[in-house]
Amino acid sequence: MRIDVVSIFPEYLAALDLSLIGKARRDNLLDLNVHDLRDYTHDRHRKVDDTPYGGGAGMVMKPEPWGEVLNRIATESPATGPLGEKPILIVPAPAGAVFDQAMAYELAEAQHLTFACGRYEGIDERVLEHAAESFDVRPVSIGDYVLNGGEVAVLAMVEAIGRLIPGVIGNPESLVEESHSDGLLEYPVYTKPGSWQGREVPEVLLSGNHAKIARFRRNKQLERTAARRPDLIVELDASTLNRHDRDTLWHNGFALVEGRIVPKDQIAPE
Ligand code: ADE
Repeated sequence: MRIDVVSIFPEYLAALDLSLIGKARRDNLLDLNVHDLRDYTHDRHRKVDDTPYGGGAGMVMKPEPWGEVLNRIATESPATGPLGEKPILIVPAPAGAVFDQAMAYELAEAQHLTFACGRYEGIDERVLEHAAESFDVRPVSIGDYVLNGGEVAVLAMVEAIGRLIPGVIGNPESLVEESHSDGLLEYPVYTKPGSWQGREVPEVLLSGNHAKIARFRRNKQLERTAARRPDLIVELDASTLNRHDRDTLWHNGFALVEGRIVPKDQIAPE
């Protein structure tokens, strides 16, 4: 996969040289190019922002350098095919669609992703309109809070997407059991020593009984998700739950009513 990132702080993206994503780059699984937006300015001060039309606080990123860098990336894109398919341009912004594991899986299939890191009050809107001629433009948020710019969001997204590219993670099995892969949070994990600070590893994990271990882990997933992310529980497909799952959910505050999972406190009394 090719990834291009445009930023006025290219040093921010140096973290993508480390760990699994850095290794993926060295193994040529990921062709990552970071562009300094200021390299596309033509004035002595390398100015990338200006005051907003209509007034208001803060500064807005000027369109010209963005137009130049995005044109160049679009021209070089391996994803601009004969059928008119467009490469994807992700614009990190708190006003975007929320990034989640399903989006990470979808984007991991792409041949080419470009990330446009805005700063200040954002990028002149005409840049996104112009870019839509060459890119499939997607404003994306990593959560309901405001960062100072898109760089940290790009680090999070590139890591989440990059680890799903075949070959990046040594043991792809580990992707199957992690949080969010089946709509539930991951079960707790333990390693040696079996006893630490007076705390014991749950006995069932030492039993060698694989069915019991699987049930214990599934119960922990359901309990945790019910406590921490009840919004995920009500989204579960009830037809995937067996009798044990329904029983665990009942003991953790959820009931199955007419094929739907609902919090028990929302069931009207007879
Ligand atoms: N830029 C500023 N805040 C952001 C957020 N929450 N997600 C993505 N990009 C952002």
